[in-house]
Amino acid sequence: MTQQHMLAAVLTGHGGPERLEVRDDVPVPHPARGEVLVEVTAAAVNNTDLWTREGAYGREDDPHAVAGWQGVPLDFPRIQGGDVVGVVTAVGDGVDEAIIGRRVLLDPTRYADDSTADADDSTADADEPTLVAVLGSEQDGGFAEYVVIAADQAHDVTDSPLSDEQLACLPIAYGTATGMLERAQVRADETVLVTGASGGVGLALVQLAHARGAHVIALTTADHEAAVRDAGASHTVLRDEGSIPDRIREAAEGPVAVVADVVGGWVFEELFPLLATGGRWVTCGAVADPLVSLDLRTLYLHRRRLIGSTMHTPAQFRRLVDDARHGRIDPQVARTYPLTRIHAAQADFAEGDHVGKLVLLPGDRTVSPDPAAATG
Ligand SMILES: NC(=O)c1ccc[n+]([C@@H]2O[C@H](COP(=O)([O-])OP(=O)(O)OC[C@H]3O[C@@H](n4cnc5c(N)ncnc54)[C@H](OP(=O)(O)O)[C@@H]3O)[C@@H](O)[C@H]2O)c1
Repeated sequence: MTQQHMLAAVLTGHGGPERLEVRDDVPVPHPARGEVLVEVTAAAVNNTDLWTREGAYGREDDPHAVAGWQGVPLDFPRIQGGDVVGVVTAVGDGVDEAIIGRRVLLDPTRYADDSTADADDSTADADEPTLVAVLGSEQDGGFAEYVVIAADQAHDVTDSPLSDEQLACLPIAYGTATGMLERAQVRADETVLVTGASGGVGLALVQLAHARGAHVIALTTADHEAAVRDAGASHTVLRDEGSIPDRIREAAEGPVAVVADVVGGWVFEELFPLLATGGRWVTCGAVADPLVSLDLRTLYLHRRRLIGSTMHTPAQFRRLVDDARHGRIDPQVARTYPLTRIHAAQADFAEGDHVGKLVLLPGDRTVSPDPAAATG
């Protein structure tokens, strides 16, 4: 490999989009022992890229502190991007060279204890391994032409029928959705309410819960309703129309067994009482507001459970890779951008006027037409 420098979007500190600099003089990283070097072909945008850039995760003793997901500021400079697919171009010592040239999907999560990580932990519980690092947060990620990663986090998807752009949609959105459904132990025939249903995690939740045989009610907006139904929702409730709890009760025709929530804020406060006795509310995010109030009586009198969920376990990711290899999932790409237009991609993401994922392409692949250019 002769290339010494690469194009990358470098985050220089917590703050606004101006802290993100697209440079073409970033040294290509070298794979250390046990690592592979991957030429990135596609990298999807997530809400966490924006929150991590802003340092919007807070700290347990100060919800307004500027911090990454671990409650401390990141180390800078940092290359973000946790949703990565690409081709292995070099390996470090101790890695079988047979992987060179293979198309790989990267597991963005690293765990503290590799032996536990190998367990078949399909039903998540207290034995889950501890998440210690996420690609693009504690280590450089895929908003660049190249990235290095531990070889066991690079999964061969060469033979998947999915495109690189589709594969890039999977790790964070589908991984997180899988983790939520597993931790809430969603079963066939249960009624599951999905909030933020047209977003990255939401649409994955709709698809995966439907695939498990659950009856999916989706909270969404009028513009996104058709796409959410196509993904598998049997009912949609529009959040921009009145009396949302009543319409959910009507659609559910009975208790809601599980709420899979990415919104928090007003959604949590208004909809928590809709859960069945013994029902499960699983949360992974809070796009509306992370700070909520809860009448504890609504929790304990009905033996409801509140479940926090972050990302997936290694075993859950391996099953996701298997689904990708066999084309059993159908991730939706809303739009693609060259890496040099990362600021536009993040602005469009924040606008929320899309269904599915926005994907950055570091190489010279064909991207979606630039709407700004088309309109002059
Ligand atoms: N813990 C983890 O491991 C993990 C991993 C990934 C993401 N997350 C978190 O999960 C959340 C969603 O992430 P994402 O990438 O799916 O984001 P996203 O693509 O922006 O989706 C969020 C969706 O929520 C809905 N929404 C937005 N603002 C709302 C509001 N004020 N009230 C009600 N609904 C609203 C919209 O869907 P509709 O128009 O359909 O309503 C939007 O598409 C974020 O908080 C993110 O940080 C956590």
